[in-house]
Amino acid sequence: MRIFVASAWPYVQSVPHLGNLVGSILSADVFARYARLKYGKENVIFVSGSDEHGTPIEIEAIKRGVSPKSLTDQAHDYDKRLFLGTWNISFDNYTRTESEVHKNFVKEFLLGVSKYISVEEEELPYCEKDKLFLPDRFVRGTCPYCGFEDARGDQCDRCGRLLTPSILINPKCAICGTPPVLRKTKHWFFDLRPFSESIKQWITASPEMPENVKGTALSWINEGLKPRSLTRDNAWGIPAPFSGAQGKTIYVWFEALLGYLSATLEYFTAKGEPDKWMEFWENGKVRSYYFIGKDNIPFHAVILPAMLMASERNYALPTIIGATEYLLYEGQKFSKSRKIGIWIDEAPHIMETDYWRFLLIRMRPEEKDMNFTWTEAIRIVNTELNDDIGNLVNRVVTMINRYFQGEIPEPRNLKDTDNKLLFQVRETVDSVGRMFDRTKLKGGTELILSLARDTNAYLNSKAPWDKIKSEPEDASNTLYVAGSAVKAIGLMLYPVIPTKAEVIYRQLGLDIANASWDDAKEPLKPGHRVGKPEPVFKKLPTDFEKKLGELLEKIRGEVEKERPTLLK
Ligand code: MF3
Ligand code: ZN
Repeated sequence: MRIFVASAWPYVQSVPHLGNLVGSILSADVFARYARLKYGKENVIFVSGSDEHGTPIEIEAIKRGVSPKSLTDQAHDYDKRLFLGTWNISFDNYTRTESEVHKNFVKEFLLGVSKYISVEEEELPYCEKDKLFLPDRFVRGTCPYCGFEDARGDQCDRCGRLLTPSILINPKCAICGTPPVLRKTKHWFFDLRPFSESIKQWITASPEMPENVKGTALSWINEGLKPRSLTRDNAWGIPAPFSGAQGKTIYVWFEALLGYLSATLEYFTAKGEPDKWMEFWENGKVRSYYFIGKDNIPFHAVILPAMLMASERNYALPTIIGATEYLLYEGQKFSKSRKIGIWIDEAPHIMETDYWRFLLIRMRPEEKDMNFTWTEAIRIVNTELNDDIGNLVNRVVTMINRYFQGEIPEPRNLKDTDNKLLFQVRETVDSVGRMFDRTKLKGGTELILSLARDTNAYLNSKAPWDKIKSEPEDASNTLYVAGSAVKAIGLMLYPVIPTKAEVIYRQLGLDIANASWDDAKEPLKPGHRVGKPEPVFKKLPTDFEKKLGELLEKIRGEVEKERPTLLK
């Protein structure tokens, strides 16, 4: 069975914050790393890319008098370097919606589903000065309900009511302030109605699809699907391939979603095996996993499946859509303008990314909204990473070196307590695997932590440092068992903290590069030589929280300077 792993394509015009990261890309990476260990590297592909078209970027480019492409080139490079370099995200292909493979794929795909596409005429707000049809939120005016003077055409920021540009009082173009006119325009619509029943059946019968995804998708379908407009009167996008659609581009959602397919095709084309991509897309041959924030559910659980069905190519529908809830920062929503939160180019200046990866997965809003607080973050780093995991590794490797010259002792006459922990190791490896298979990454990580705590408790009660003289056999057995538990813990942590897991493995004298998931169940071999102990983690200093404000201020100033224009 092949495994397709995808994370939602991040908008290129904003640096993701930590909530965005754990919502899609980091979660997908942890899953992909696990899947490669468990199911074999060659059976897994992990793709994503920059979502770079659409009006906001076009307008930014108009304002600055530059081409949109020059803006997104820089921003894409910046984001890509952050993901691949800094955050160690193991993408097989991180591409972009400007890639030629993607643009061609989208054109052909849409021409192939033309029987579900029709043209309609509409009247939409147009700015005569900027010579631009204005998307709803680029029309501003007075809210007819509450009188707020700077309401957006899609929603009023004061009273929260949904609006349409035509009901705003004194509507103005958000770019130049001129009142827009209504202008007739033609648009192409993709009809979702024919897929209502089949999507409903598929999602209801999907045994592994999480309930929050099923619920949102079904309520969308039950409200009644409609034809959705496929085209926009924008210049910055993929030109609509339909006859009579000159000057129009494809609405970003309808093309970005197809990036999942085009990125797979692009990956195999670059490898010189263009025919192989269908192995990761053919229904029945592949299990596919999507990691997204919950606001993206309707697009992945309804629109993507509808498009896949429309193509009649027997494409695989999603197996699991892992949709996270929201991460709050100290009780508030992340907000760039109000400087609430931490962004992924800032975080690595505070701590190594593996600390962040662990923190974020521990606080992953898997079933409910979660709140990132520094108090909790410090506790997790100092207690869980340092004490529960780091100290455990250190104690065990140090004692094997000190008492057994670095050689794993032969187990003899294991007692119940020893066998019990060995059994727990095997069980934990299986149950963490089952959790990860269901994309319960936080849940799985908690199980690894409890094994670490139980191993510490086992060591404490066995006290091999006392018994090495009086009961040497018991002391050897203890270190044989504890060493085997550390091996399992190190390997299971690899998807979450790959760099640190390698350090742990190296100290055990093992190489993680060739490991597979089930190796975690195998005890260490008697006679095997471990490496030298070295600290894996460092505690955060006691005055850390006090100095944080100042530190953040400084980091922000420096990071801001390095960001490309589009991301400032
Ligand atoms: N850019 C969108 C967001 O961040 C996600 C696009 S997912 C895709 O919400 F599949 F359409 F690319
Ligand atoms: Zn205008």
